[in-house]
Amino acid sequence: MAHTLADKAGTFAIGGDLEVTRLGFGAMRVTGKGIWGEPADRAGALETLAALPDLGIDFIDTADSYGPDVSEWLIKEALHPYGNVKIATKGGLARTGPEIWLPVGRPEYLRQQVHKSLRNLGVEQIDLWQLHRIDAKVPADEQFGAIKEFLDEGLIAHAGLSEVSVADIEAARKVFPVATVQNRYNLVDRTSEDVLDYCTANGIGFIPWFPLAAGDLARPGSLLDEIAKKHDAAPSQIALSWVLKKSPVMLPIPGTSKVAHLKENVAAADIALSDADFAALDEEGKKAFAAKAA
Ligand SMILES: NC(=O)c1ccc[n+]([C@@H]2O[C@H](COP(=O)([O-])OP(=O)(O)OC[C@H]3O[C@@H](n4cnc5c(N)ncnc54)[C@H](OP(=O)(O)O)[C@@H]3O)[C@@H](O)[C@H]2O)c1
Repeated sequence: MAHTLADKAGTFAIGGDLEVTRLGFGAMRVTGKGIWGEPADRAGALETLAALPDLGIDFIDTADSYGPDVSEWLIKEALHPYGNVKIATKGGLARTGPEIWLPVGRPEYLRQQVHKSLRNLGVEQIDLWQLHRIDAKVPADEQFGAIKEFLDEGLIAHAGLSEVSVADIEAARKVFPVATVQNRYNLVDRTSEDVLDYCTANGIGFIPWFPLAAGDLARPGSLLDEIAKKHDAAPSQIALSWVLKKSPVMLPIPGTSKVAHLKENVAAADIALSDADFAALDEEGKKAFAAKAA
């Protein structure tokens, strides 16, 4: 059976030379409840990961802390050797239990985690390594300096940040080239609009996490619903299509543990929103965000 391929979303060159299809995959959901331990359906999780290349997805986002380790282990089990698939991972959050995430930015810890991810993924160099959070307890320059060393030593090919402000990115860029930024962003969560604009202007890849939180706009009768019906699509697909059209540096990584959902998400790459529909959704999303914030 033929499926829509993710490459319909076009490509982006991370750091100028790591070319990926813009619609990627987030591998946080292939773990247990609370992003802790093994997934309830291990075979299903492996099947989902193994299906990615056939669907044209060549960019996977994970982290040492997903499981912890479990997501990286499963990616290796399902996909190693990776061929054309590029893996982005992260470090800098310790896990002491389900749903508990504690920033630890001490350089020796970050270095340990880079080595663990190399081993977990079975690679000699990590394509893209992201600092999961800047640890407020450690001077930012010490964390950025450690990342510069990982780049200089070839342990990682590119480096990114997560949940940062424009000021954080500018401070980091003084120490190492920031290839990507991963912040929470979707149609109705526009907190990082200024960060997205900065990334677009500077050719930095923007990885919006939680891209499917279509929230109230997915309710029957909403604008998203109306446009979805016009395209014979699910509201979540329209939310993905909108985010892809929002900026050429946008690299959404919808996460799922189910092959059926994965296929549905990939099909969003083939939905061409008109400029009018895009603008209407943009306005509606901004209004919903402003109403929530008020
Ligand atoms: N940098 C950070 O701090 C940070 C934080 C959180 C996440 N992330 C990254 O971002 C990725 C995506 O974030 P996310 O997983 O929180 O949010 P998301 O991709 O917006 O949503 C994922 C949720 O939507 C469901 N889903 C996916 N496709 C669906 C579909 N077609 N129809 C209905 N439900 C669907 C999934 O459940 P099913 O499994 O049932 O499909 C899952 O519960 C993660 O995998 C991770 O790589 C990064």
